[in-house]
Amino acid sequence: MGTLKISTFGILALATILGLTGCGSSSTEGEKSSTGEVAKGGDTGKKQLTIGFAQVGAESGWRSAETASVQDEAKKRGINLIFSDGQGKQENQIKAIHTFIVQHVDGIILAPVVVTGFEPVLKEAKDAGIPVVLSDRAVQVKDDSLYATLVGSDFIEEGRRCGEFLAKKLNGKGNIAEIEGNNGSAPQLERKKGFEEVIAKYPGIKITNDAEGKFELAKGKEVMEAFLRANGKNINAVFAHNDDMALGAIQAIEEAGMKPGKDILVASIDGEKTMVQAVADGKASLCVECKALLGPGLFDAIESAIAKKPLPKKTVMQDDQFDDTNAAKLVSTRKY
Ligand code: AHR
Repeated sequence: MGTLKISTFGILALATILGLTGCGSSSTEGEKSSTGEVAKGGDTGKKQLTIGFAQVGAESGWRSAETASVQDEAKKRGINLIFSDGQGKQENQIKAIHTFIVQHVDGIILAPVVVTGFEPVLKEAKDAGIPVVLSDRAVQVKDDSLYATLVGSDFIEEGRRCGEFLAKKLNGKGNIAEIEGNNGSAPQLERKKGFEEVIAKYPGIKITNDAEGKFELAKGKEVMEAFLRANGKNINAVFAHNDDMALGAIQAIEEAGMKPGKDILVASIDGEKTMVQAVADGKASLCVECKALLGPGLFDAIESAIAKKPLPKKTVMQDDQFDDTNAAKLVSTRKY
């Protein structure tokens, strides 16, 4: 097989097309980083690291907070971060990873849009000797040595917590509508699994409506409007796979002349400040946190992987939760 040859101009042009931002060159000791500051490595004699970050997109407040956390942490550590916004498309993420490989980055952080289809490109990264750390979401691969570790929450447990809470609030009887995240993503599959596994234990509770809301506020609102048109009077609660979709559902319920949190209970996952406020205001019943400020954990992991230190296959974040007992007190402490 021939060697792939690509000029610096070619790489820059490709990077521009793919929306990769940051100073792409692997700068060495004393050079300016993408942050415009002298890299930490300049003082310590260590080579400045260049890390490619293939992000999902900007579908939710949670996602934007995560991006900011990764960018801030890269700055703090003097790491040259090449950021790629996948705009919710797997093909964009695969192209970005190919470009990172051509650029000889030191490591890659990937927040996969969906669980399947990444095996070949992860193999290419492995063959090029570039470690990959997964951010927040899992991938399904036959060979789990294709990634170093996953840093994120337990999505199944988050779904279970919403199921138990709503089932108890409804005294074991009622109809629940479910608004799901983007099809085929780890949080959609795993939150659904945890939630439905708990609901199955309550014969008096039915999931009467179920549709994809893509983790987006506008889509969550649209889906809830359709549910309300179909059987609004019969819905007792809504479980949204994230806060943005729940906030959209709350708008739809209010516009339909009903009271969210009373006529229809609302539960969701992420821990965004606006959702915790909605719980404090009585418009929602439960918000389970999903830790978003993953920057420090992700860079600890990628630096360890580059240094070939042993890593667990997953580092699980401990998530809090907010209901009418603590939301009002804690809303001001929320960072995103
Ligand atoms: O993977 C984490 C999920 O992705 C968050 O719950 C959601 O808001 C985001 O889009």
